Amino acid sequence: MVTAPVIAIDGPSGAGKGTVSQQVAQRLGWHFLDSGALYRLVALAARNHGIALDNVEALRTLAAHLDVQFRVAEGDGQPGVILEGEDVSGAIRSEEIGNAASRVAALPAVRAALLERQRAFRVPPGLVADGRDMGTVVFPDAEVKIFLVADAAERARRRYLQLKGGDPDVRLEDLLREITERDRRDTERSVAPLKPAADAVTIDTTSLGVDQVVERVMAVCEERLAQ
Ligand code: DC
Repeated sequence: MVTAPVIAIDGPSGAGKGTVSQQVAQRLGWHFLDSGALYRLVALAARNHGIALDNVEALRTLAAHLDVQFRVAEGDGQPGVILEGEDVSGAIRSEEIGNAASRVAALPAVRAALLERQRAFRVPPGLVADGRDMGTVVFPDAEVKIFLVADAAERARRRYLQLKGGDPDVRLEDLLREITERDRRDTERSVAPLKPAADAVTIDTTSLGVDQVVERVMAVCEERLAQ
């Protein structure tokens, strides 16, 4: 079997994983897996099909048969996520779907149903995988493991700046409460809880810009991949 190297980038919401992972993948010319998008897609599909978030068997079936395509950015085009033929790139990013995703992600049956789908992204020349359990569960043999953290207040502030343009009613204190609640759910769940792998390098991004974080991650990758 042809195996490809993996860079696993984990951490809580708002630590900068998404942007950093995409830039690292772009620099290396590697594939990119946004594993959080899969949990968000299950949550959105559940809403579209009227499936309750406590209907474990229906959610497991949904996750196992999710009809999704990831469109890579070409030319000036944006990357896209297509669910059942519809572009849902914007729809999966709402706070409502983020909170529902955190709930479906706590279900072991849903996580198991998504496992092989995530591993299938590991193809040459390599994969940058962004999530919560990339280095611990999905790719425990990843060549590089990074754990990005940042203070909750700073993560809420980043999210506020992102959302404010589209929604003038957004409130910083609501975002901080939601982030704290989501952290608690992601960290305390019994299956694949959010925690750094024993061999992960932790980077605190609280006072760093995106470029600085990318440089640090690239430095760790160069060192580890050379071994
Ligand atoms: O990274 P994100 O905000 O798009 O993730 C959405 C939710 O999915 C988040 O609450 C945690 C969960 N998730 C997970 O449990 N495991 C992953 N590998 C990625 C995301």
